[in-house]
Amino acid sequence: MTELKKLSVEDGRDIYDMLQTMPKDENGLINNVNGMTWEEYKTWLVKKQQEAEQEGLVDGWKVPSATYWLYVDGTPVGFGNVRSFLTDALRKAGGHIGYGIAPQYRRKGYGKELLRRLLREAAAAGIEKALLTIHADNTPSRKVALANGGVITGQTDERIWVWINTKEQPGSLTLPENNGDSSDCR
Ligand SMILES: CC(C)(COP(=O)(O)OP(=O)(O)OC[C@H]1O[C@@H](n2cnc3c(N)ncnc32)[C@H](O)[C@@H]1OP(=O)(O)O)[C@@H](O)C(=O)NCCC(=O)NCCS
Repeated sequence: MTELKKLSVEDGRDIYDMLQTMPKDENGLINNVNGMTWEEYKTWLVKKQQEAEQEGLVDGWKVPSATYWLYVDGTPVGFGNVRSFLTDALRKAGGHIGYGIAPQYRRKGYGKELLRRLLREAAAAGIEKALLTIHADNTPSRKVALANGGVITGQTDERIWVWINTKEQPGSLTLPENNGDSSDCR
């Protein structure tokens, strides 16, 4: 069973341990918790939660972004961020949504499932069309985006720009056996 949980100041050791297995920066996806002490992580959770709740720019330049954890059968396997709105800089690189699956859980369909659920959160937050900017050589991420209805609207040697209509999402994607989601019918 898969579940998406929003970051909370109560998050514990399972999330901390997962984030230690994920690189600090992989294809532009930043994981600041890699290398943090436990105490630093707990402080980071508080800051992230506060920032996510802000409506305008944080510290004058940062767009508020909500962080979510993807759980499979009770184990966290990845995370994603949904930004509330875009700036000119984010239209060039960054977009609305970023996501990553911990290396040991890749190639099981979880990346597609994670984005599908993040798009639902984006829709609920009032984002009708979500932008993803993806490194041109990042085949797995491109596939994840296209499987979720992404349309490539721009391309350079460096990256592609993909827009996804958040209101036109499939109810579920094919996951391996026993990973069906019983809470999909809403
Ligand atoms: C991108 C990422 C989230 C994909 O996660 P995942 O759980 O492996 O994705 P899925 O299992 O849903 O696979 C999606 C597709 O990519 C393919 N794929 C996955 N890893 C691959 C690899 N290393 N090489 C080639 N294809 C790969 C899968 O076979 C699948 O293809 P299909 O649609 O033909 O079946 C993961 O690779 C990741 O965390 N990468 C680092 C962070 C990152 O790049 N984030 C995106 C920033 S825009």
